Amino acid sequence: MSALHAVTGDDPAIRIDVHLAQGTERRLAEDVLDGLTRPFKEIPPKHFYDSRGSELFDAICELPEYYPTRTETAILDASADAIAAVTGARELVELGSGSTAKARRLLDAMGSANGTEDLRYVPVDVSERVVREAASELVDDYPGLTVHGVVGDFERHLPQIPASDDAPRLVALLGGTIGNFTPGSRRRLLRDIAGLLGPQDHFLLGTDLVKDPEVIEAAYNDSAGITAEFNRNVLHVMNRELGADFDPAAFEHVAFFDREHEWIEMRLRAREAMRVHVADLHLDIGFEAREEMRTEVSAKFTRQRLERDFAVAGLELRDWHTDRDEAFAVSLAGRRGA
Ligand code: SAH
Ligand code: TRP
Repeated sequence: MSALHAVTGDDPAIRIDVHLAQGTERRLAEDVLDGLTRPFKEIPPKHFYDSRGSELFDAICELPEYYPTRTETAILDASADAIAAVTGARELVELGSGSTAKARRLLDAMGSANGTEDLRYVPVDVSERVVREAASELVDDYPGLTVHGVVGDFERHLPQIPASDDAPRLVALLGGTIGNFTPGSRRRLLRDIAGLLGPQDHFLLGTDLVKDPEVIEAAYNDSAGITAEFNRNVLHVMNRELGADFDPAAFEHVAFFDREHEWIEMRLRAREAMRVHVADLHLDIGFEAREEMRTEVSAKFTRQRLERDFAVAGLELRDWHTDRDEAFAVSLAGRRGA
């Protein structure tokens, strides 16, 4: 495992644990070696999110075509008070935390339900910048809040999340991020998250729902081309972190809805045949003309499918919050039988 170092700055309300040595570079090397030498090339989506990737993702969230963010935010506006009341949560653990917009809604509601004294926020993200910025913004805006940030990979570092005291805990995974896992790893992640929950704790999960494929496809093919830039960002990451010589302009963005799996698939397609050298890995990779490499799936859910995934993970659905059009859902779950 990579070295852990704890960083405690000037502010006693902030503590940040870093579980990823120099960003994500070690795991990136393994993923590239493994994923880009397969007959069908593939690279896991967590490598999009360096500083530029996180900025591009924030820009995606503002796009007119990208409905998930504003829909989920509106659901939280309408439901955060109910969620705070049902859970009695005093600690919010947010996996893949990104910007603080959604955490603020939940912390506001937790504060008005039971006061802001001793509230705790634990943002967990692979992006160190994301965690640091969230910590400093929120302690300034929420007196009484302590932030214990974790720079880590929630697929590997859940056991390193600081133990909660007896305070009821809410673990959140928002933004439809769960959809970025294929079914087997999704179940494993849900089971691991269930392991973080005591009998009084809850899990809050945001999922995009199955709908008209045209609406879904537009969300991943915006007319301003920001999603395409975001998709190609993984090439910049490999160039910088691994000394690769990808020409990002030589790849086009492809996103389509796979009706059988009910997921969006994001790919990068080589415009022409080429060879790419990855210096740090002593690796040469050949691309045929129009060869595609998968960079992400984004699964769309139904309530029934989600209930099944929960059941397999030892969780049960307690509350289902959705918008009027049922475009997106925020589910509250607890440990089965608790
Ligand atoms: N929750 C936010 C951000 C969603 S984007 C929202 O709803 O808007 C996904 C976020 O998860 C990014 O900030 C990315 O850096 C982070 N992320 C992706 N894969 C991760 C992983 N395996 N471990 C930890 N963080 C991850
Ligand atoms: N979790 C987001 C989603 O599935 C991530 C995302 C949005 C994304 N647009 C993207 C990932 C484009 C890669 C490319 O909606």
